[in-house]
Parts: sequence; C-alpha cells; structure tokens
Amino acid sequence: MNKEVYVLGIETSCDETSVAVVLNGRRVLSNVISSQIEVHKDYGGVVPEIASRKHIEKIEEVVDRSLKKSGLELKDIDCIAVTYAPGLEGALLVGLMYGKTLSYMNDIPLVGVHHIAGHICANYIDTELEPPFVTLVVSGGHTLLVLVKDYDEFEVLGSTRDDACGEAYDKIARVLGLEYPGGPRVDALSKVGNKEAMEFKRVMLEKDSLDFSFSGLKSNVLNYINKCKMKEEEIKVEDVCASFQEAVVDVLVKKSKLALKKSGVKKLALAGGVSSNSRLRERIKEMCKEEEVDLYIPKSVYCTDNGAMIGVSGYYKHLLGKNDNIKLNVKNNRKL
Ligand code: KG4
Ligand code: ZN
Repeated sequence: MNKEVYVLGIETSCDETSVAVVLNGRRVLSNVISSQIEVHKDYGGVVPEIASRKHIEKIEEVVDRSLKKSGLELKDIDCIAVTYAPGLEGALLVGLMYGKTLSYMNDIPLVGVHHIAGHICANYIDTELEPPFVTLVVSGGHTLLVLVKDYDEFEVLGSTRDDACGEAYDKIARVLGLEYPGGPRVDALSKVGNKEAMEFKRVMLEKDSLDFSFSGLKSNVLNYINKCKMKEEEIKVEDVCASFQEAVVDVLVKKSKLALKKSGVKKLALAGGVSSNSRLRERIKEMCKEEEVDLYIPKSVYCTDNGAMIGVSGYYKHLLGKNDNIKLNVKNNRKL
C-alpha cells in the first residue's frame, strides 16, 4: 500500500463522543471531542443510560465536524475504525452502529478496535515508535502492563486484580468532596500537599508479580478519612492527595521497571487517562533515565479517550487485512 491512507476513528465507549481523521497511522488531521463530563458531574460518576443518549445526540455532528476540520469528505476515507470493546454496552453500540452504517452505505472497509489497543496506539502519533515495547496502561477502567510485540499483537504481563488506578483516584476524590473526574483534581492538589504526611499502603503482591491491587490502598485512605471525621480532626486534603498519589506512583513505577527487566525491552510507553498525571510523568522519566530506557508519553489530549487513538489502531489492523464486517457486535468486557 503506497498511497496515503485516511482512517476515520470513532470512540464512544464511555463519556466522550470523539471522532478523528488520521493519516497513515501517525498524523492526526482532526480530533473532535465532545465531552459529557459536565452532565455526569452532578451524579459523581458516569450514568450509562445518560451516556448512550448523549452519544446519540452528538455523533452525527461530531463526525461532520471532524471531516470538515480534516478538509476531507467521506469519499476520501479509506477505512472506518470504531471502538467495539470494552466499555459501556449502550455507549459502544451508538458508535458501532453509526460506524457500521457509514461503512455499509458508502462501501468503506470497517475495522473494530479494542479500546485498550487504541490507548496504546496513541503512542504512534507524531513519533517513530515501533514495536516491541512495554506499555503501562492506566485509565479509569483499566490498569495493565502490556508487551506490545507487534502493531496488533499484545501480551498482557500483568493487570489489576481489583480496582483500576483511575477508579481509585476518582473514589478518593469523591470522598474528599472533589468534583468528578477526580484524577486531575487530586493531581493539582498534590502539588501543594506533603507527600510524606501519611504512609499509605504500597501493595506489591507476590515477589516478581506484575499484577496490581489498589483496593487495599483505597480502603486504607478511606479509613484514614473516616477516622479523622469521627474524631472531628481537620483533614488536610492536599496532604491526603499527595500521600495517596505517591503510594500509587511508587507502585506503578516499580512494576514498570520490573516489566522492562523481565521482558528485556528498552522502550516504555504510557497510555490511558492517568498517564496525564504530573507526578507519574516525573517519576517515570527519572526511572527511564536511570535505566537508559526510551520513554514515550502521548500528549494529554491523546491520553484520555479520543477518536485519534482509535484511528491509529484501526490503520494498523486495516494494513494487516484485519477488516470486520456488518456482523461486528459490541463486547462490553472483552480482554485485550
Ligand atoms: O482513559 P480514560 O479517559 O478513560 C477510560 O478509558 O477509563 O481515563 C479516565 C481516568 C479517570 O479516572 C480520571 O480521573 C483519570 O483518568 N485522570 C487522571 C488524570 N487525568 C485523568 N488521574 C490522575 N491524574 C491526572 N492528571
Ligand atoms: Zn479509555
């Protein structure tokens, strides 16, 4: 394939309706994101039924805006890539049905993309990164260490046994009275807090394990907050945030280092919403420098959910001839 390949990427697995046009898997021509955060804020988290309805209201407009911004028309698009798994079933269905219809009506090849593969592939945007490399995926729904063997070949080295990292951030934030999504708020407050104020748990599990567990840390912090409330002691929100964050980042950095050592790979990439975290970025940069490992971190806009990452992953699947057809269905909990 030596012509330019334009992929339309559609993402609706959670609370962002996002559509992008990606050129040759590396250049983003447009990436329109319509976020529902304001709607879900009042409920302290994503309400699935509302999410689906909002995607339905927005999808057509977001597709049109994305095409317009890219300067292309539907007839120029070579492939339609759409998230089919995992995520909220009703939300996924909106993007998938829309993508399938566009594909069928306009005779454009369709590719279903796994949301986590999408997050990982965000690392190809504007870089020359090539597999193999290790990725730390940290999002609201997932925490994984993945060996990316090829563009569409992934080996999960470890994953969370309970809560996802972002989920723990959001839960702690909620109890501290911070707005949804809590991750960015905890990150900001940590900058003015004392990270050594409390010694929260660092759960490493068995020696050499690359799995994660955040539920113990979450309970540890929640118990601390409840105890303060019962004793009517002042809760120093910034200190709780900074100490909690340091515990999370300690574990993420140590496990990433171990994954690099075990796989013998000298390239590390970050993926998912939590990889926007400033302390994680700082600490992981230090570790990679010490270990002489090349580090890749997508721009923040490509860390949280977006259509561009889906377009990139779809490009490589399309290139490998892994196209789907009209029978493609959503899989709300399919593994990578
Ligand atoms: O990847 P993403 O947009 O959605 C999922 O696929 O889950 O990740 C969203 C998660 C939320 O839990 C949010 O609180 C967290 O990423 N997040 C952060 C930061 N920015 C977003 N967590 C910590 N620090 C941040 N700066
Ligand atoms: Zn995501």
